[in-house]
Amino acid sequence: MQLRKENILIVDDDVNILELLQRHLQSWNYHVFKAISVKEAVTILRDTQIDLLITDLKMPEVDGFELIKFVSEHYPKLPKLVVTGYPSVQGSLEAIKSGVVDYLTKPFTKDELKSALDKSLVDSEGKAIQPKNTSDHRTEPYGEIIGNSEKINDVIQVIERVKDNKATVFIKGESGTGKELVARAIHYQGKFSRAPFIAVNCGGIPENLLEAELFGYVKGAFTGAETNREGFFQAANGGTIFLDEIGNASLTVQSRLLRVLQEKEVVRVGSTKAEKVDVRIIAATNSDLQDMIQKQTFREDLYYRLTVVEIHIAPLRERKDDIALLVDKFLFKYGIEYKDRFLKITPEALDILNRYNWPGNIRELENIVQRAVIMCDKVVDVEHLPDHLKHTIAFSADALVPLKVVEKQYIEKVLRATGNNKTKAAEILQIDRKTIRQKLAD
Ligand SMILES: Nc1ncnc2c1ncn2[C@@H]1O[C@H](COP(=O)(O)OP(=O)(O)OP(=O)(O)O)[C@@H](O)[C@H]1O
Ligand SMILES: [Mg+2]
Repeated sequence: MQLRKENILIVDDDVNILELLQRHLQSWNYHVFKAISVKEAVTILRDTQIDLLITDLKMPEVDGFELIKFVSEHYPKLPKLVVTGYPSVQGSLEAIKSGVVDYLTKPFTKDELKSALDKSLVDSEGKAIQPKNTSDHRTEPYGEIIGNSEKINDVIQVIERVKDNKATVFIKGESGTGKELVARAIHYQGKFSRAPFIAVNCGGIPENLLEAELFGYVKGAFTGAETNREGFFQAANGGTIFLDEIGNASLTVQSRLLRVLQEKEVVRVGSTKAEKVDVRIIAATNSDLQDMIQKQTFREDLYYRLTVVEIHIAPLRERKDDIALLVDKFLFKYGIEYKDRFLKITPEALDILNRYNWPGNIRELENIVQRAVIMCDKVVDVEHLPDHLKHTIAFSADALVPLKVVEKQYIEKVLRATGNNKTKAAEILQIDRKTIRQKLAD
């Protein structure tokens, strides 16, 4: 199956069909947008660049024919595929007249869907639509990666440079910044994407097991080793192995890794025979490896071999331009999941999210939006956000200021709020008027 990156919008009032379509389409690596009504479909079409519309015809309120007409008028180049449970000659004729490329009857098989897709995903000149290229002027996500800040664009530029070769990549970043997401993007955006991607959490597997899991073992290598077994490296052959939390790998595992990097071969636990492997290694950590090197718990030679290409993912507080886009994405994701609709957020609530410092980065943002979606009806507002967010003051890490400055700003704020009434301000601040004057003069 060829790797495809198109955005496909599927519209059906039956969530089971939506889910089935989504599963199939995602297995072919398409980006799926789901709508359970024509109204939602229209919202998505407005906000997103869609490459193919797959729609049901019979739906309550506004039906699929209306949607097809709307799309033909507003997005004449967008190919349309109809999936319906009610085939009728009249219906088919009407659909075809309005530019529908293909017509699929429920229930359909995965193969039928595939051939309908192949027919539909051609551009107006009849050429197959190519995956989008990425440039500095991206307006769409890069694979799963959302964000258009300079920092995230820099990361994407590096991904573009490494995705089609097998260079070892090292990803650094705080917890929740998207290290695994970036590792997956490197693999899945590149030309080896059809080979396996295996993610191993070196911190999550007991030390003595990690060795056997990574490199495999032979029968009798240790108690319980009843047969020969492949490790993750053999399983990932031709593809990518993602070694997360690499700082947790023991010195034994480290020296074996060094061998893989140097000789491109692995030796199973309990064996002396080397096996050739062709695997790209991506390692990640949020611990300080330099410090570990100092303490001699991490091999310096391994460190240099791992860091052929380094990607540093900036914390969210240093790329706040991305917050609104990420919020949008999570509102969409959880809105559809929990409320069957695309939810909005008020400017006030978004302002709070923009001001918060995000120690847990994107993972924290996702959790907070998820919770807000559950708590709200149609619109996420300030009341749906956790209290600790509302009380944060807007200082980013690179704008830390002395207490005196904060104090002065706050006194000015209270004065503005009281219409410059010093007596009232003094009362609120619980200091006297003379102190207010002094502090403002400083
Ligand atoms: N730029 C992004 N766009 C969309 N989703 C993102 C982005 N960055 C991170 N995420 C999402 O945030 C969550 C955390 O990302 P990920 O697991 O890749 O972080 P991590 O750096 O590996 O964190 P940890 O160090 O805690 O393992 C995931 O659900 C991921 O999909
Ligand atoms: Mg991770």
